Amino acid sequence: MNKIKLQNDANRLNDDSDFSKIVDSGLSRRRFMQGGAAAMGLFLAANPLAQAIAAAAQPASQLLGFTALPVSTSDEFIVPKGYIAKPLISWGDPILKGAPAFDESGTQTSAAQAGQFGDNTDGMSLFPLSANRALLAVNNEYTNYLLLFAHQGKELTADDVKKAQAAHGVSVFEVERKADGHWHYLKDSTYNRRITANTEMQITGVAAGHPLLQTKADPSGKKVLGTFNNCANGETPWGTYLTCEENFNGYFAAPGTEMDKHQKRYGLKADKNKYQWYKFDQRFDMSQEPNEPHRHGWVVEIDPMDPTSTPKKRTALGRFKHENAAVTLADNGHVVVYLGDDERGEHLYKFVSKNRYNPDNKAANRDLLEEGTLFVARFDAQEGELKGNGEWLELTHGKNGLTAENGFADQATIQIYAREAATIVGATTMDRPEWVAVHPNNQTVCCTLTNNKNRGKKDNQPVTGPNPRAENKYGQIVRWKPANADHTSNTFDWDLFLVAGNPTVHSDLYAGSANITDENMFNSPDGLGFDKAGRLWVLTDGKYSNEGDYAGMGNNQMLCADPDTGEIRRFATGPIACEITGLTFSPDQRSMFVGIQHPGEKNAPSHFPAGGNSKPRSTIMVVQREDGGIIGA
Ligand code: FEO
Ligand code: CA
Ligand code: CA
Repeated sequence: MNKIKLQNDANRLNDDSDFSKIVDSGLSRRRFMQGGAAAMGLFLAANPLAQAIAAAAQPASQLLGFTALPVSTSDEFIVPKGYIAKPLISWGDPILKGAPAFDESGTQTSAAQAGQFGDNTDGMSLFPLSANRALLAVNNEYTNYLLLFAHQGKELTADDVKKAQAAHGVSVFEVERKADGHWHYLKDSTYNRRITANTEMQITGVAAGHPLLQTKADPSGKKVLGTFNNCANGETPWGTYLTCEENFNGYFAAPGTEMDKHQKRYGLKADKNKYQWYKFDQRFDMSQEPNEPHRHGWVVEIDPMDPTSTPKKRTALGRFKHENAAVTLADNGHVVVYLGDDERGEHLYKFVSKNRYNPDNKAANRDLLEEGTLFVARFDAQEGELKGNGEWLELTHGKNGLTAENGFADQATIQIYAREAATIVGATTMDRPEWVAVHPNNQTVCCTLTNNKNRGKKDNQPVTGPNPRAENKYGQIVRWKPANADHTSNTFDWDLFLVAGNPTVHSDLYAGSANITDENMFNSPDGLGFDKAGRLWVLTDGKYSNEGDYAGMGNNQMLCADPDTGEIRRFATGPIACEITGLTFSPDQRSMFVGIQHPGEKNAPSHFPAGGNSKPRSTIMVVQREDGGIIGA
């Protein structure tokens, strides 16, 4: 009965058979009812019906053509039978002329690191130069002092701080598919570039020059040094790279002071600071430069084709802990960018450009991200439903309570304190929105909600709608379709494409949705991307203890899903203590570039990728098929 009702509701809501099919096949309403009840403290016994639904047969996928992998706890990157994976570049490999080779002693200087591939590879995009040559632009999210320094961060010097800053940012380098069929990076290509925490950048858009962005070093409020904690990414139809600043707060300190409400909302801390940059670089000391943190937490646009170009921070896209920037063109020509803010109980945003894309004049599109409207999502649902509709709430000065009386003197203040503006307009608090991906052939959009231990424990984080589990350990993927299939429309229908869980440990909603089985289970979906055929690739950044709630899940991994049937297969497994993040394809879809970040974190026993007794190093892998075929097919 429940299933029939759900199907009918879905047809009424969406008038789209594919979308409604998933609403039905993806999730058992029964499991939701259990999860909701558990959240209210009514702990229900295991329900055999939920188990039966979990084991229900799924239609065979036409999109997925590979043999699924088992879980792994080994120190390797494993791909399916018939596939090969080779390292392309690792942290510390030289990319600029004159840069030395990586030396694992941890004694190389800041100058050496500034010419080498940065640490902790994350989001990346490929910009083709020809059929077999391309530029790869890659984020280097953060650095691990245990590995970066021989002293493991215990005796930090001024040059060490410069070295750590040089291990951050973005690396751009040329890659070539050579006669052997494999991709290699080209050291010394004139395109190669390092962008670090000290590269000069321009602040653009409505907040540029605002008093909140002015510092002693930059009274103009329009020039800033560097980008850091660059998490995921985006790419524009006009050929630029977007790098997204995430946990910028962790680099600032102001010992002995009190944080104000704005600083608190953005996670800035007076005394706790693992990077210690403020001891040697005054702009990271908030008691000296209270406005410097306002100059970070933005999306930065980079022209990868011009290594002398000045990166531009785009204040129109709002300031928060950005995950990625999923760019799409609406049919009416406006550029739409979907943006997650990765923090427990923060929000999901959308930017719509003021001007339209001009397909005939590439240069005319260069500043489309300069001006537009920012929105934030409110998800609505009937009690006990795992689908519903929603609205994009406009973050424009003078509307929706965003007035001077409520603390927003002007539009720039709304952009700078976007999180606080989102609260005023009534945005839904989410389970850590990570990557957003837009389907290439229809207008559905997915976002990973990675996990949220606070759900149900804080008043502003109720257990409902797209966040249906208290103390959510496993994460889920929410999916929406804009009204009239128009990305600029203000309303949408949503459902949950998957709810991750462990059906071998739980039999309620924590077992996961019907498309999660003991064969494909995982936790904490994070990276996300569609390929050209519409396969949905899911990369995990979760717990790898392989015990308790995570028993049978092994190391972090990569899954591939068919959005039409809901089927999910495990495509790759990572080495010890890594997360898998960063994904891009060659235009022919026959090579996949995927990042292995922080293998061996917290001194876990990884020696990836070189093996033996070597230091673990974040590495980009290239995956190809032995028969040269399309990845995943
Ligand atoms: Fe850098 Fe939210 O991951
Ligand atoms: Ca992430
Ligand atoms: Ca994550």
